[in-house]
Amino acid sequence: MIQNLLKRPRRNRKNAAIRNLVQENYITAHDVVAPFFLVEGKQMRYPLASLPNNFLLSSDEILKEAEELTKLGIQALILYPVVSPHLKDAQGSYALNKNNHLFLAAKEIKKYFPNLCIIADIALDAYTSHGHDGLVSAEGQILNDETAQVLADMSVLCGHSGIDIIAPSDMMDGRIRMIRETLDKEGLEYVNLMSLTAKYASSFYVPYRDALQSAPRFGDKKSYQLNPANIREALIEAKLDEEEGADFLVVKPATLYLDVIQAIKANTNLPVVTYHVTGEYSMLKAAAQNKWIDFDRALHETLLSIKRAGADIIITWGAKEIATQLKNLSS
Ligand code: PBG
Repeated sequence: MIQNLLKRPRRNRKNAAIRNLVQENYITAHDVVAPFFLVEGKQMRYPLASLPNNFLLSSDEILKEAEELTKLGIQALILYPVVSPHLKDAQGSYALNKNNHLFLAAKEIKKYFPNLCIIADIALDAYTSHGHDGLVSAEGQILNDETAQVLADMSVLCGHSGIDIIAPSDMMDGRIRMIRETLDKEGLEYVNLMSLTAKYASSFYVPYRDALQSAPRFGDKKSYQLNPANIREALIEAKLDEEEGADFLVVKPATLYLDVIQAIKANTNLPVVTYHVTGEYSMLKAAAQNKWIDFDRALHETLLSIKRAGADIIITWGAKEIATQLKNLSS
């Protein structure tokens, strides 16, 4: 026996009931947002080599997914339009085509699932032939204010299509304020802004860019996305976004940036969202396919670590899988 050992933390871990009583963090279906790649057409469901268990889906297929998600308790989805190469140009003009498949799909989903929250990622990379998130000058610079204006116009079209939340993922300065003012002028003052506040120039977006065929054709995104070495810069962005009228602050990616989530959470009273991106998800899948880890347990642990760091909401490519798992655990 160890003498005088008054404190034995293992007492609070001795059986499942006690472990459950002392559990500090949970993940629930209400905490997760399901992302979807949206293609034009009908009955389209293409698998993605670098993103197992996720698909390019047409809106009718997303409706089927929405039905399942709702049953699992998931109540929000985020749409990523995949644009055919022949519709892409240097200005990303398809983004402002009011009949583009994003706006049509949003209206259709709202028609069948009025209570489902629809989020739209707003940036130009899906629409531009060069793959950058903004307009590009003749010298190859990403134009800030001009891009913010296009995103504001795009946001108005989103608002009129029934999209509940706009999530600008471009990292231009001042775009939250410009979008907020433009929406308000249009009578869309109840459309929320979920700002990608700390979006890092990460190497974990590759499967996403594969799906969209949107890898930048020249240069990289380092003049607008944050340097992975920095955290104070994220706090500057968070303060500005809050002042400019953001309703949610997002950190992206998630698992390599838990410290950033924690720091932003400590500095705001807004809900903190994080985006568990394609590469983070694919890594788990790849290891699980090799039977090196168990996917369900690894996903659950990953998402718990994100909640523990302070995120209120998690966008994850494993949304349906975690919700299914939680349902099975509780039954
Ligand atoms: C671009 C955008 C990216 C993602 C979402 N929106 C990638 C990028 O900045 O090139 C990546 C999301 C993911 O990998 O899950 N605005």
